[in-house]
This record gives sequence, C-alpha cells and structure tokens, in this order.
Amino acid sequence: AWLRQKLLVLGSLAVGSLLYLVARVGSLDRLQPICPIEGRFGARGQAEFPLRALQFKRGLLHEFRKGNSSKEQVRLHDLVQQLPKAIIIGVRKGGTRALLEMLNLHPAVVKASQEIHFFDNDENYAKGIEWYRKKMPFSYPQQITIEKSPAYFITEEVPERIYKMNSSIKLLIIVREPTTRAISDYTQVLEGKERKNKTYYKFEKLAIDPNTCEVNTKYKAVRTSIYTKHLERWLKYFPIEQFHIVDGDRLITEPLPELQLVEKFLNLPPRISQYNLYFNATRGFYCLRFNIIFNKCLAGSKGRIHPEVDPSVITKLRKFFHPFNQKFYQITGRTLNWP
Ligand code: A3P
Repeated sequence: AWLRQKLLVLGSLAVGSLLYLVARVGSLDRLQPICPIEGRFGARGQAEFPLRALQFKRGLLHEFRKGNSSKEQVRLHDLVQQLPKAIIIGVRKGGTRALLEMLNLHPAVVKASQEIHFFDNDENYAKGIEWYRKKMPFSYPQQITIEKSPAYFITEEVPERIYKMNSSIKLLIIVREPTTRAISDYTQVLEGKERKNKTYYKFEKLAIDPNTCEVNTKYKAVRTSIYTKHLERWLKYFPIEQFHIVDGDRLITEPLPELQLVEKFLNLPPRISQYNLYFNATRGFYCLRFNIIFNKCLAGSKGRIHPEVDPSVITKLRKFFHPFNQKFYQITGRTLNWP
C-alpha cells in the first residue's frame, strides 16, 4: 500500500509536469508569426499588447534583414517585400528620421532603413517598380512598410510618379518652424564642408541677397521652407485627406501625441506608448525603447548645435515666411503657431 501511494504521488507529479509542458508549448505557439497581425493585436486590449511578441517580431525580421535567411525560411514565415503603404515625403531636417524610427516601434510597421530615392532619382526610377519593391524590408503581409526620402517633397516629378504607383497612398509630411528648419539645413551642409576642410559662407550671406537686402529665394534652404509652394504641386495629384502633417517641433519635445495622431491617420491600433519613449538628458532628445533589453537614440548627426544667426536676419526670415505659413495652415487645416 505504501508503494502504491508513492507511485500515485509520482504519477500525478509526472502528469502535472506534462500538463505544464503542454501549456508552455501552447504559449510559445502564440509567438509563431502564422496568425494575422490584425487578428493577434486587434483582439487584445490596448494596454495589453504583448511586448514579447513585438520582441519576437523584431528579432526575426532583424535576422532576415541581415540576410541570414534562406528562400525556404522566407516562404515558411510567409514573409514578403511590400511596396510602401505610406511614405514620409519630407521635409528635409523636419525630423524625418526620428518620425520613421518612432513609427517603427509599432508592431504593424516595418521601416525601410535606407533612403531609397526611387522617385526623385531618374536613374533609380528607370530601374522600375520591381527594383523599388526589392529594396523594401521583409515583412508579414498584415504589416505596412514605410519609407522616407525627404527629397521627394521638393522634387518636381515625384508626385506624378508616386501617383502612378499608388493613387491612394498615405503621405506624411513633417515640418518645423521654417526659419529653424532652414538653419538646420544650412548646419548640415556646413558640417559637410568642414569635414572636407572647405570654407563656407555664413548663413546670413546666403539667406539675404546682398544687393536687395531682401530674403534670397534662390537659396535652396529658404525655398525648401516655403512649404505651401511644394504642397500645392502635390495637390494636383492627391487630395488633402491623403496627407498628414506632423509637427516636427512637437515631435522633439512631446513625441507621443504626435505619434498617436499618425497611428490614427494610418488606421493602426494605438500601440506606441510612453514606455517606448524616454528622455535622454545627455542627448537632449527622446530616445526609443523597444523592450527591456533594446533601446537606442538617434545618431549624433541628428540634433546638431546650430550656429548663432544674426537676430535681424531671423526676424526678416520669419516675416518673409509668415504669409506662406498662413496659407499652409489654411490648406492643411493644421495651425502650428509659428511666429
Ligand atoms: P537638428 O539637427 O537641426 O537639431 P531629419 O531626420 O529630417 O534630418 O531631421 C533632423 C532633425 O530631427 C534634427 O534637427 C532634430 O532636431 C530632429 N529630431 C526630432 N526628434 C529627434 C530625436 N528624438 N533625436 C534626435 N533628433 C531629433
């Protein structure tokens, strides 16, 4: 009887362990990328998004991106290279990289890491749409791919070319106060010159025409900041509803509400949370937290210190941009309180 009792205890322990193992395998099964993203994420409560699934997705896609994959694995995981459903078309120095990286925190978004310059570069464009698609990262069919090439916004041929690819594509434009953006643009070029040990003009000399003492509209950094002029070209092809304006100044100081507006525009369930964004006092910017192990800040080339600019030049530029800004608010329906 003693032996029978011992065997009974051992037996129930074994059954218990077996049940535990089955439950574990079941829970691992839930991590497999076979069920649709919408089904997986849509069914859960918002606050309940499983970070481990996001982690899993990151790890797996990262391996594929590194090229550590066979065709068989790609097929097995149902991975595809999809044309973008949304493009960050500009504006240069508006915060395009920060926006792309932050959107990539969303489990249903996959970013194209490099600027592809398909639509603005004639040589690339001539290679055809399949070339463009092959430049896209692997993703699950239910995810959306996003790319960013800020030159698209100001390049004449681009709206028509994008329209030909997908007339219902979603277009994101991130803007900053135009004078600050122009100085940021100048700072980037200046840094490039300095790296090559070249001298460069002062911002004031480029932005103000020395003959007329008026704003120099031939200077590219000034022209790019006349947002409404560029947008009007785009509106010949796309209705305003297909654009979403991101406030690049607010993305720096308060990124979450800006990202939530983009999630809404892209019809994505809200998944990016304050947990994913933390302020790094050393950098002076928000950085990204994917999970307890992996976080990152943007490269040092983002968030440069701008040179000091003569205040009278700043005032002149702000006055110059003012009527264009008013028109921009009117067209887009987004008022940005720029001076
Ligand atoms: P500055 O270098 O003038 O500060 P882009 O990616 O389009 O080139 O834009 C660069 C700008 O992104 C930077 O301009 C910086 O201010 C802004 N930015 C916004 N959020 C940022 C972040 N979290 N980290 C670093 N830079 C960020």
